[in-house]
Amino acid sequence: MTMQEPVDLLYIEASPMGGASTSRAVAQSFLDAYRRANPTHSVDTLNVWDTELPPFDARMIAAKFAVLRKHQATPEQQALWDSACAISRRFNRARRYLFALPMWNFGLPYRLKHFIDVVTLPGENWQWSRETGYVALLQDRKAMVVYSSAGDYPATQPADPSDHQKPQMRRWLQFIGVDDVQELAVGPTLVPPDTLQATREAAMRRAAEVGAAF
Ligand SMILES: Cc1cc2nc3c(=O)[nH]c(=O)nc-3n(C[C@H](O)[C@H](O)[C@H](O)COP(=O)(O)O)c2cc1C
Repeated sequence: MTMQEPVDLLYIEASPMGGASTSRAVAQSFLDAYRRANPTHSVDTLNVWDTELPPFDARMIAAKFAVLRKHQATPEQQALWDSACAISRRFNRARRYLFALPMWNFGLPYRLKHFIDVVTLPGENWQWSRETGYVALLQDRKAMVVYSSAGDYPATQPADPSDHQKPQMRRWLQFIGVDDVQELAVGPTLVPPDTLQATREAAMRRAAEVGAAF
C-alpha cells in the first residue's frame, strides 16, 4: 500500500497505555467487528506516540509561508513542509476514521494535538480565500471516536462545560470535512475494578455493534 492509495479505515490511537488502555480496548472491539463485516477492507493503524511528528515550530511555519505564499522555499524548507504533507496525506487518504482517545486535563493528549497541528494543512484538507472563506476539502468521510475519562463526561450535545475533549474533536473534524461522526464515551473509569469491568464490557458490546455496521 503506498501513501497515495486510499485506505478504508485509519485507526488512530491517542492513548500511550497499550494493553491497559480502556479507549483502545473498546476501539479494538469496534475494529474486530468492522473487520469481520468487511474482510476485504484495508486498515491502517497509527499510534500518535510511536509516530515521528516534526515539531510544528517557527521553522515549520516559515517553511509553510515560503512554500505556499512566496514560492521561494529553500530546499530545506521544502523538505520540512513535505514531511508534514506526507503525514497529512496518510491521514487524508482514509475514507473512515477510528479514534481511541483518553481525556487529559479536560482536553486532548498533547501528542494527538501535535498530530492534529501537523496534519491540518491548507491545500491538503482545507483552504481559504476571500471569496469563499474556509472550505473543507475532505468529503464523504466518517469517523467513530471512542472517548475515555476518569470522570463522567457523556457524549452529549452540547458537552459538559468542563469537557474540552469532545468539542475540540467535533470542531476539528467538521473543519476538514469529516461530518458524519459517531461517538462513544467510556467512563467514568476511576471506579472500583468490578464497575470498570462492567463499564468496559458494555462499551465493547456497543462498539462492536457500531463497528459491524460502519
Ligand atoms: C495526564 C492525564 C490527565 C488526565 N486528565 C483527566 C481529566 O482531566 N479528566 C478525567 O476525567 N480524566 C483524566 N485522566 C484520566 C483518563 O482520562 C482516564 O484514565 C482514561 O480512562 C484513560 O484512557 P486510556 O486507558 O485509554 O488511556 C487523565 C489521565 C492522564 C494520564
